[in-house]
Amino acid sequence: MSDYFKRKSIPQLISESHDGEHSLHRTLSAFNLVTLGIGAIIGAGLFSITGGAAAHNAGPAVTISFIVAAIGCGFAGLCYAEFASMIPVAGSAYTYAYATMGEFIAWVIGWDLVLEYAVGGATVAISWSRYLVKLLEYYEIYLPAQLVMSPFDTVTCGDGSIVHGMINVPAVFIVVVVSMLLIKGTRESAFVNNIIVALKVTVVMVFIGLGWAYINTANYTPYIPINTGTFGEFGWSGIIRAAGIIFFAYIGFDAVSTAAQEAKNPGRDMPIGILVSLAICTVLYILFAHVMTGLANYKEFQGQDGIAPVAVAIRHTPYIWLQQAVIIAILAGYSSVIMVMLMGQSRVFFSMSKDGLLPKVFSEVHTTFKTPYKSNLLFMVFVSLFAAFVPARVVGEMTSIGTLFAFILVCAGVLYMRYKMPDAPRVFKTPFVPVVPILGILVCFGMMVFLPGDTWLRLIIWMAIGLAIYFLYSAKRSKLRNQK
Ligand code: ALA
Repeated sequence: MSDYFKRKSIPQLISESHDGEHSLHRTLSAFNLVTLGIGAIIGAGLFSITGGAAAHNAGPAVTISFIVAAIGCGFAGLCYAEFASMIPVAGSAYTYAYATMGEFIAWVIGWDLVLEYAVGGATVAISWSRYLVKLLEYYEIYLPAQLVMSPFDTVTCGDGSIVHGMINVPAVFIVVVVSMLLIKGTRESAFVNNIIVALKVTVVMVFIGLGWAYINTANYTPYIPINTGTFGEFGWSGIIRAAGIIFFAYIGFDAVSTAAQEAKNPGRDMPIGILVSLAICTVLYILFAHVMTGLANYKEFQGQDGIAPVAVAIRHTPYIWLQQAVIIAILAGYSSVIMVMLMGQSRVFFSMSKDGLLPKVFSEVHTTFKTPYKSNLLFMVFVSLFAAFVPARVVGEMTSIGTLFAFILVCAGVLYMRYKMPDAPRVFKTPFVPVVPILGILVCFGMMVFLPGDTWLRLIIWMAIGLAIYFLYSAKRSKLRNQK
């Protein structure tokens, strides 16, 4: 039994990370890590999901939801920072768990991270598709509605007829393009990332700055719309449910930890990268949500418009010209988020495959490109299926619940390590242990509890499949467990 909880030692992990031809160069400064974080964080959560959460769950009080989610992420971010400074190797939460709570929990996190990275990538791709459709409309190019939505989405036409989607072709397109870039090994250089980040941050600040003057305070009344009688639809239950949904917007700061091997001074700079990127985005998000729900009434974000709420909000300003510029920046910005997510996914499965927990195909490296191309191709298909046929809300909520679960395990890991290895060197220490990790667990769990029941069901089914694979396949082939 104890075999299932066998751990890898930290020195072993660090020495493995230096092995082979793939040791990465340490080129990233603290500043690069902060921009890396912001590049992965600002995306569909802010520019799409906020609209739906305001329309269906929280109204203007979605701003409060952003504060609640930021609190949960802040606690989890502090715990990530401790781990990233203590075990500065790629693999993120999966690796931390392998070093601390053992193989079984590592498997659970690794499997769960598919929801964060692969399903999260699909979510951003669907939102990308929506903004592309909006952009093309400016040029009077109209893609057939059936080809830009999942079969579960509908749109009402001018004549009142309702059209059902069939497949979301643009979403598949962007997944295929990004996967091909990953296979070719076009690592986003820090320089390109900095440009995209500057673009995204500028868009958000311009939106806040120019929009502020056109806020119609009548849109804030009622600030917390009365609950409809259904749990999670407005009122306080709606605010917390919306927090769980827009939590998606904060995902990505943890991706900084996957670059630990490329950081010049990981012990000091990992915590800076994680916490500073999170802090900057928190401030921008709260202001952004305030302006968005002040410009347009939250009801205007219902239906398909909820997926491109920025365009809806800008209609209430004289800066209509801004719409196209903003949408182009958003499309560029999303590509970098999808890339980080799909790259994070292939790195986690690469590590799991190296450890014998997944088939070799996930760690086979292309002879010329030196990238795990087979893994990239398999995930290209998997992510495309979600992007093509599942509605944005479903994939978004699956991503949120999966990531919240991973955050809880990381917070629990910090607690466990303080008790198990109190003297292990930690360059950064989470303050106020055990209070911070415990609050991290509680706030994240609270957001999970308020997510819709069907999202829970999907998480449970996904984890059940994972457990079956672990006991039928991985446990038997684990390299660590078979070491004599
Ligand atoms: N936080 C990222 C986004 O909102 C995943 O797109």
